[in-house]
Amino acid sequence: MNGSGTSDPTWVPPTQISKQGFLAALDFFFRLLLSFFFFSFYFSVFSFIDTVGLNNFPILDERLKRWGETVTVLVEMVQGFATRDLNLCLQKLMVAGDMNGGGILKDWKDLPMELLLRILTLVDDQTVIVASGVCTGWREAVSLGLTQLCLSWCKENMNNLVLSIAPKFTKLQTLFLRQNKPQLEDEAVEAIAKHCHDLRDLDLSKSFKLTDRSLYALAHGCNHLTKLNISGCSDFSDNALAYLTSTCRDLKSLNLCGCVRAATDKALQAVGRNCNQLQYLNLGWCEKVSDVGVMSLAYGCPDLRALDLCGCILITDKSVIALADRCHGLRSLGLYYCQNITDRAMYSLASSGRREQQARQDLLFASVFNGNGNGSKYGKGKNEGLRNLNISQCTALTPPAVQAVCDSFPGLHTCPGRHSLIISGCLSLTSVHCACCRQVGPFSPRWPTTITPESFSVQ
Ligand SMILES: *[C@@H]1O[C@H](CO)[C@@H](O)[C@H](O)[C@H]1NC(C)=O
Ligand SMILES: *[C@@H]1O[C@H](CO)[C@@H](O)[C@H](O)[C@H]1NC(C)=O
Ligand SMILES: *[C@@H]1O[C@H](CO)[C@@H](O)[C@H](O)[C@H]1NC(C)=O
Ligand SMILES: *[C@@H]1O[C@H](CO)[C@@H](O)[C@H](O)[C@H]1NC(C)=O
Repeated sequence: MNGSGTSDPTWVPPTQISKQGFLAALDFFFRLLLSFFFFSFYFSVFSFIDTVGLNNFPILDERLKRWGETVTVLVEMVQGFATRDLNLCLQKLMVAGDMNGGGILKDWKDLPMELLLRILTLVDDQTVIVASGVCTGWREAVSLGLTQLCLSWCKENMNNLVLSIAPKFTKLQTLFLRQNKPQLEDEAVEAIAKHCHDLRDLDLSKSFKLTDRSLYALAHGCNHLTKLNISGCSDFSDNALAYLTSTCRDLKSLNLCGCVRAATDKALQAVGRNCNQLQYLNLGWCEKVSDVGVMSLAYGCPDLRALDLCGCILITDKSVIALADRCHGLRSLGLYYCQNITDRAMYSLASSGRREQQARQDLLFASVFNGNGNGSKYGKGKNEGLRNLNISQCTALTPPAVQAVCDSFPGLHTCPGRHSLIISGCLSLTSVHCACCRQVGPFSPRWPTTITPESFSVQ
């Protein structure tokens, strides 16, 4: 019989299909439930106005007056939300933030907290903020349950918004405040540091208006930070950054791209002294960084996995040699435009790669010999050494040295369209050729072309 027996390799047991279908149905059901809640909320607001007749409403006492105002605010919020006019939403939020409860939404308060929290996980950040201004139940749910928030969609009012929500959202662990047009000021960061002591992941990139006051505030209030992105914050000084590293010692990911004043050798020495768990560091275009700073990193942060030194024009072979010797977990190295890097640096990378390959093989053999399951863990996949190296514009390099690097790291390749060894702009290096689809592990045949902290799932 054709395609019906279990001997057919393409045959899939019907239970698997129905399980997927069941999950999809469950997902759909939750979305339906959610839209029902929001619909009924809007509907109850509008039906309330309908019965009361807001415009002709005689103001009888303070309580009713407050009700009237509450309704107006809610209606405008709903309209703002419906038309996606976020600035309108935000203005209303400021007003709504001052209200104490409001009586009309009694039924919302009756919802169990677990359900509110569940809904919160399903809606987007703008809705969460609007919801937090609506009634006490939501506000409690938000302050109890909200751990992540991104306000990068805010084009005008980010500073005020942060000032008004920081006291409410005290359980935040992840906060993205990336801006295109600088809005945040020190007061807002101080409010965050005062109220959100649980913060782990903070993105303040391109906050050109912030000064050292912000870094000192974070140093005092947010000691659990593991990821900090202050890329483009050119006003921070190295003293403030060094101070921050002395109190935030759990940092694993730090983006200092373009922080020319902050990223000095002095600050990097503090990083090497204090942040021994650092895994990702971006020092792009930090022109004051020299070998002294990079060597302190190499000695202090042995777990470093990705380091971008692009445009650090002062660094020489010494830096790369120290990294090759000390940071065996290094997977991504950016040396774009480091023109004082020579073949010596490449040979030291290559020999560290060969050493690691040898160590892996020894481990594999040992484990096969002893018959334990550790061999497969170390032998394949994970620990393959460098898999991203950007040496574009490093004009002093010659083909044999770069070829040696290529040959000692199976993770590096120059496949068309997705190079992980980046040598563009090096006309002298056109003869270098890395394998393209070399087998580097059973589950990861393709590497990402650019390495971000997410590629390493920094914990
Ligand atoms: C930090 O901010 C920059 C600029 O906004 C961005 O490109 C980068 O992906 C961000 N994240 C990290 C972890 O560096
Ligand atoms: C190499 O590094 C530079 C500087 O970070 C970057 O602009 C460029 O896009 C990188 N090249 C590739 C192909 O990723
Ligand atoms: C970098 O190389 C140039 C010449 O190519 C040299 O003049 C300069 O001193 C070098 N810089 C360092 C920090 O070694
Ligand atoms: C794997 O190695 C670790 C130490 O490196 C050892 O504690 C563990 O027992 C080993 N696992 C097996 C299955 O032998």
